[in-house]
Amino acid sequence: MYYNDLIRQRVLVVGSNGMLGQRVINFYSSKDGVQVLGCSVEAEPVYKNADYICCDMTKREDIKKVVYDFYPDFIVNAAAFTNVDKSESERELAWKVNVKGVEYLAETCRVLDSHLIHISSDYIFDGAAGPYSEKAKPNPLGYYGRTKLASENALKISGAIYTIIRTNVLYGIADSRPDFVRWVVNSLKSGNRIRIVTDQINNPTFIDDLVQAISKVIEFEKTGIFNIGGKEFLSRYKFTQMIADYFDLDKSLITPILTPELNQPAPRPLRSGLITLKAETELGYQPHTIPEALALMKKELSL
Ligand SMILES: NC(=O)c1ccc[n+]([C@@H]2O[C@H](COP(=O)([O-])OP(=O)(O)OC[C@H]3O[C@@H](n4cnc5c(N)ncnc54)[C@H](OP(=O)(O)O)[C@@H]3O)[C@@H](O)[C@H]2O)c1
Repeated sequence: MYYNDLIRQRVLVVGSNGMLGQRVINFYSSKDGVQVLGCSVEAEPVYKNADYICCDMTKREDIKKVVYDFYPDFIVNAAAFTNVDKSESERELAWKVNVKGVEYLAETCRVLDSHLIHISSDYIFDGAAGPYSEKAKPNPLGYYGRTKLASENALKISGAIYTIIRTNVLYGIADSRPDFVRWVVNSLKSGNRIRIVTDQINNPTFIDDLVQAISKVIEFEKTGIFNIGGKEFLSRYKFTQMIADYFDLDKSLITPILTPELNQPAPRPLRSGLITLKAETELGYQPHTIPEALALMKKELSL
């Protein structure tokens, strides 16, 4: 029997150097019967134990060639221009990556009958009355949210087989940049004061729970929209206090503030968060609690 006979599925992960992308690659690289290929804009992969190709997804012919050559059954699009504040001033680039790039992937998926799993955000909502179900009406406040909503709409009319996974506040183990948890732990360990908002509420998502949800979408070939978030709905301030408690750090260094005090270029949805009942029912989604996720991070990162 040839090696190729053992491969049942090919999965292309676009944005494989990002926080989420590298964990998706990590998950699939050790899974029997799956051939995984990472793709990101940098020359070198963050996660070294999988095939990797460098490609800018805003270059239509380049990304099409990557997809046609690999002929994936599934594409996970974890690539995005994710800087919410810079999206206000770098609108053209944010649109190119977050909307045009998705359109190019969808075009190829339509031709090849590949299934595109695209990651979206709770920033498509205004945060007036969260948490939100999959059926809630979007109303983005900032340009980043507008691009993410436009990417969803582009997919819906693309004719491709697609799944949109909306998520919020990712935290977890990733090498590319420290997530919120590591930033809090490092800051408090160094004795630095941090100012954290009490008026932004959501359900932070452990990245590996999101990876599990993506793998279930692939396994059950689920299409449509799914919300993925954590078990607890809480303010960023309360989340930070839980992190400090868990790692036995000095909570007096955490100063509560309100969002307007940050003077950020992009407005934030305040009462947000995503209801995950549909994913629990249809995907068997069972997220970790925050203390459980922190325990896993502590073990893997020696925090
Ligand atoms: N992080 C969150 O809290 C959060 C919350 C809600 C939704 N999401 C969504 O979840 C997804 C994953 O987020 P993340 O936090 O893992 O993002 P991330 O860490 O910022 O990773 C995004 C990746 O996309 C790559 N990329 C950017 N432009 C590209 C291009 N033109 N061609 C190919 N790759 C490109 C980036 O490369 P560079 O680093 O070189 O730019 C980076 O490796 C995104 O769709 C995001 O909108 C994230």
